Amino acid sequence: MSTKNPCKALVVGGTSGIGRGLAEYLATQGCSVCVAGRSVSRGEQIVKELEALTPVGTVAVHRFSQIDCFDLGSVKKLASDTIASGGVDYLVLSQVSVCVCPCVCSLCPCAPVSMPL
Ligand SMILES: NC(=O)c1ccc[n+]([C@@H]2O[C@H](COP(=O)([O-])OP(=O)(O)OC[C@H]3O[C@@H](n4cnc5c(N)ncnc54)[C@H](OP(=O)(O)O)[C@@H]3O)[C@@H](O)[C@H]2O)c1
Repeated sequence: MSTKNPCKALVVGGTSGIGRGLAEYLATQGCSVCVAGRSVSRGEQIVKELEALTPVGTVAVHRFSQIDCFDLGSVKKLASDTIASGGVDYLVLSQVSVCVCPCVCSLCPCAPVSMPL
């Protein structure tokens, strides 16, 4: 990967663990990285860290996008925002999103059920 060829990456689950490591690597390579996850505070913190890792002279802009992968609306919003901004060269999906059917999420092929209060 060359820092002379700016690239764009979306790392879902980029605020922690494996995704964070990949987001950091991509930033060191001059990529503009959008990290996505649920926690705004973690997201804002990692954006600052990515800025510090970006090579001097690189035109890279990092940002955070809040998403909950169990919420179809937020998944669709991130997808449309990503397309509207010209798409990405690298898409990393590293979020922890496991559901056990029958579940309550809006993405699972199983019939959504209501959680008892
Ligand atoms: N670590 C390993 O050794 C290992 C081995 C094999 C496979 N994996 C798989 O690799 C993936 C990442 O593992 P990891 O260890 O890096 O996990 P991690 O450190 O817990 O990171 C998970 C990331 O996913 C985000 N996330 C969690 N739930 C989310 C949701 N509902 N919607 C959007 N983002 C969500 C978290 O941010 P927020 O909390 O802010 O949302 C965080 O950024 C997992 O699917 C895991 O099962 C890991």
